[in-house]
Amino acid sequence: MSSEISHHEENSNTSDNPSFNDVLDARLSRRGMLRVGMGSAGAAVLATLPLTGCGGGDGDAVAAPPAADPALRLSFSPVAKSTADVLSVPAGYTATVLYAVGDPLNAVTPAYKNDGTDTDFDNRAGDHHDGMEYFGLNAAGTARDVAGSERAILAMNHEALTDQFLHAGGVTANPRPPAEADKEIPAHGLSFVEVRKVSGKFAYQKDSAYNRRVTPFTPMLINGPARGNALMKTKFSVTGNDCRGTINNCGTGYTPWGTFLTGEENWAGYFTRGAADDAARGGSTAKSVVSLVRYGRNQGAASRHGWETAGAGDKYARWNISKLGVSADGSDDYRNELNTFGYMVEVDAYDKTQAIRKRTALGRFAHESGAFGKQIVGKPLAVYMGDDSRGEYMYKFVSAANWVAADANPANRITTGDKYLDNGKLYVAKFNVDGSGNWIELDIGNAAIAAHATYDFADQADVLVNARLAADAVGATKMDRPEWCAVHPVTGEVYYTLTNNSNRKIDPSGSSQQGVDAANPRAYTDAPTAASAPGNINGHIIRMKENAGEPAAVAFTWDVYLFGAQSDADTSRVNLSSLTADQDFSSPDGLWFSPKTGLCFIQTDDGAYTDVTNCMMLIGKAGQVGDGVAQNINYTKADGSALVVTTRIGAKPTPDTLRRFLVGPKDCEITGIVESPDGKAIFVNIQHPGETISKANIADPTKYLSHWPGNAGYGAGGAAARPRSATVVITRNDGGLIGADGTAVLNNY
Ligand code: FEO
Ligand code: CA
Ligand code: CA
Ligand code: CA
Repeated sequence: MSSEISHHEENSNTSDNPSFNDVLDARLSRRGMLRVGMGSAGAAVLATLPLTGCGGGDGDAVAAPPAADPALRLSFSPVAKSTADVLSVPAGYTATVLYAVGDPLNAVTPAYKNDGTDTDFDNRAGDHHDGMEYFGLNAAGTARDVAGSERAILAMNHEALTDQFLHAGGVTANPRPPAEADKEIPAHGLSFVEVRKVSGKFAYQKDSAYNRRVTPFTPMLINGPARGNALMKTKFSVTGNDCRGTINNCGTGYTPWGTFLTGEENWAGYFTRGAADDAARGGSTAKSVVSLVRYGRNQGAASRHGWETAGAGDKYARWNISKLGVSADGSDDYRNELNTFGYMVEVDAYDKTQAIRKRTALGRFAHESGAFGKQIVGKPLAVYMGDDSRGEYMYKFVSAANWVAADANPANRITTGDKYLDNGKLYVAKFNVDGSGNWIELDIGNAAIAAHATYDFADQADVLVNARLAADAVGATKMDRPEWCAVHPVTGEVYYTLTNNSNRKIDPSGSSQQGVDAANPRAYTDAPTAASAPGNINGHIIRMKENAGEPAAVAFTWDVYLFGAQSDADTSRVNLSSLTADQDFSSPDGLWFSPKTGLCFIQTDDGAYTDVTNCMMLIGKAGQVGDGVAQNINYTKADGSALVVTTRIGAKPTPDTLRRFLVGPKDCEITGIVESPDGKAIFVNIQHPGETISKANIADPTKYLSHWPGNAGYGAGGAAARPRSATVVITRNDGGLIGADGTAVLNNY
């Protein structure tokens, strides 16, 4: 979401993991490079080094990917940057709005009036469409068909709200009217909606039996090691086996057995804690308090929407996680409620009768996407995941069970999920200056975890529920806000967007700031205006190659696929990938590879380059780790001393390997991307156009920043419409593959 201040203000990683000083020391001992010449204060001098000594020797055994086939090349005209309130795609492509917030999911719920009077969000599309997956159906609509390109269930997240537009006169302050809370709560969660080709064009089917909403009230199972743990006991589930609902769902995943994974991201902010709750819990050193603070809930924290003020009923009370009861175990209040959020959640999109599972083995943090590594029969499965807050970590889950090919089409999908996702090992990433990296297991038997300075882990469930604290203890690398990750279908390499980080500094101060390091090497102002505070303003995309291509590898090599930047920024320290005007972007977020073509889709959620362009989607043809160079960035610290950061930059893109494909309407984020299996249609979500709106301006449509998609002819309201989050389908007018030329398929990558 673009309003980073309100949505990503969580900033709770104050652990003393390796800082720039440690990085610098390590570099000095390895390379002895501090005496490289330095520029004037704040400037940098760049030197190019040969890319050698990339650690992790057994990685050399990985076979090189097939040589690029000239048949696969980007074939569209790049879309120009724009601040117009329209959705732009290349000439020769058509974008059609398919499914917007409020659209009914059955035949009886009325059409969305979009004037703030609509109710019944349990039976309408939720708000803030986000991550999305495609579940193919056969022609009759009776069964799963992985090749089904005419009919499918789209599963998507509804991350958050543009709440002012949900009500006729905008949001009423606390105490919240129950009628407003009762709309806002179920406008979160997930939706499952059937789409079908009718007369050659995809349309959503409002009366499909597959349609459904999953909301913050939907009952779910706690699965994995934390099931039944003392940490999970609430007034709703005194056994700690069950919980209610999912919220702030952001990235997604598609399991090899055909189910939907959804990541719970900024869930903590929905809950409030009383001003004296620390004392009620035993003081600031009590375990539960240490945990709550690490996950961003200090005592006295206000909830995002104030739902706990809407009435005395349990559905409102649960948003207050203060210790209010007298029980020893939390079974008479919601003091433990926060422990039931922050997971990867698995849903069978095809079968409403299967209970939804929270997969605690995959750890608890601000989850984005869950990307599976290549499946190798007889080997474990790897699931890659990021934790999106400033200075948080990158994680990998490795299943205990080895992959069995028949599980790609199992008799029972959700119990297949139990097999692979309830037992395994959770790792966190550490990046080294020599281009190597390590996956460090988060295990209760790890002495560093046992020795955590302020938190005494009870058992492995405690390690998983408090994965951030465990990762602090083992010295994981603090990253520039890990958003989505995705696995290249040819190389198997793992890509992560690092969207931006205002806390990345040349001269960090305080425990919440991070110094520049090899994997997060940039701190700069918003060129060319220099109006902003220094930080990594535009973000980058890092990628990793597992040693020997093993899902369970504990070491990897890495480089940076692309550095976000505006094209007129300094190429020696900001625009390190030398992006041109047809390629430049800021704040990469959504990330996905087409299984059909292998092309990389990059979506932005930006607030830095929005003076020049609305958020966008690019298509790239990515190379592989090590195809570029190692480079020094020379900084001058405030005290005049030199700071040299060596980073690794992937091969610079060319007009043939990276182009802007789409620019969205005003004040939106582009997020969520999936395609029909034939590669001829992509589905993209446009989140929160025109989200910047105050209650005072609700009555005046001329004050709205966006009127999309009403101004494009979708739904009620026309050119004066309230803006709506929506799914669009994009096809090529000649019926070809999206983005690529000729008959290109994955084998030609
Ligand atoms: Fe919901 Fe981190 O984006
Ligand atoms: Ca984001
Ligand atoms: Ca600028
Ligand atoms: Ca995101």
